[in-house]
Amino acid sequence: MRADPLAYLGAELDALKEQGLYRRLRILDDEQKPKTSVDHQSVVNLSSNNYLGLTTHPRLRERALDAIHRLGVGTGSVRTIAGTMAIHMELERRLADFKKTEAVVVFQSGFTANAGTVSSILTKDDVVISDELNHASIIDGCRLSRATIKVFAHKDVGAARTLLKGLPGTQRKLLITDGVFSMDGDLGPLPDLCTLAEEFGCIMMVDDAHASGVFGQNGRGTVDHFNVHGRVDVQVGTLSKAIGALGGYVAGSRQLIDFLYHRARPFLFSTSHPPAVAATCIAALDVLLEEPALIDRLWENTRFFKAGLKAMGFDTGVSESPITPVIVGDGARAMQLSDRLFAAGVFAQGIAFPTVARDKARVRTIVTATHTREELQFALDAFGKVGRELRIIPG
Ligand SMILES: Cc1ncc(COP(=O)(O)O)c(C=O)c1O
Repeated sequence: MRADPLAYLGAELDALKEQGLYRRLRILDDEQKPKTSVDHQSVVNLSSNNYLGLTTHPRLRERALDAIHRLGVGTGSVRTIAGTMAIHMELERRLADFKKTEAVVVFQSGFTANAGTVSSILTKDDVVISDELNHASIIDGCRLSRATIKVFAHKDVGAARTLLKGLPGTQRKLLITDGVFSMDGDLGPLPDLCTLAEEFGCIMMVDDAHASGVFGQNGRGTVDHFNVHGRVDVQVGTLSKAIGALGGYVAGSRQLIDFLYHRARPFLFSTSHPPAVAATCIAALDVLLEEPALIDRLWENTRFFKAGLKAMGFDTGVSESPITPVIVGDGARAMQLSDRLFAAGVFAQGIAFPTVARDKARVRTIVTATHTREELQFALDAFGKVGRELRIIPG
């Protein structure tokens, strides 16, 4: 019998087990909602990015079903061959209006929007100036572009400036940041970065995956929140988090979008969304415009939950958004906290290296607009009890 050429993977998995970092996938037996069943246990769910509860919103369900009845379940082609339906174009127009940009292109996911865009607009002769905590899809896009990657310390505009000063004025540069950082929940310093981009002639790009539906008027994102409209050349958003469905998009000039139609590899080489996904996203935009109370409710819940965690003495870092980390340091300890919380009826994922720095392991929580006060209080009580047992907070 031939030796298994993949045996080394087993050794890596064993090492994860020894370090207490091996994770079995948690399985939802029910819908993605604030109180649900995971691994056959009823839990308050603090792990999803379903900020506004749109995954189960009746208007979205209805429009998805209608699209299936009218248009079928798939497109059978990539966008550039036969996979562009009128409903895809309608979604792009609606998103462009929403984001107040000339045009939008929709990708299969936020990941492919970032990776496909950065890799196609840059070449090996160019430079990327990137925040050290930018999302993995930005990092992969930078690597695929073969441009030189220069990383600045998190949110350190001075450090970004120093990097830019050392570069030839003629070289093409992309300055890139997350709008909301997904692990710490803090905001990129958009106004200062825009000023820097203007001073050094950089392309300015913001990944607003966690800001869409959360920040800005009706959830238009951090560009709207900071009022830097017209100063960000490339805005990425996701349709997979607050919008409740699946997909990513790039908002910008007509020229940028036309270029991406011709050169972004995920757009060219991967099949387009089923029509029901596009219909769902259009319905989500209607909800953002017509039911802004959902966003108010998200923020009320966020303030209540953050204040509760802080009052008990948890280290919640520097979050400014509904993403609230409970930082415990050691990876195994974060997993232990997550497991004990789960046993107590609260689903909050542990996150360790390499997703966050080795000494910054945490349990990450995200509240949604649709959590009830009782559910959030139940979760706070569980955090208090388990936190004291594990001596994370004073007993
Ligand atoms: C900051 C950030 N950008 C991009 C993405 C990718 O988005 P999507 O899940 O739609 O692929 C994520 C989500 O995982 C994210 O947190």
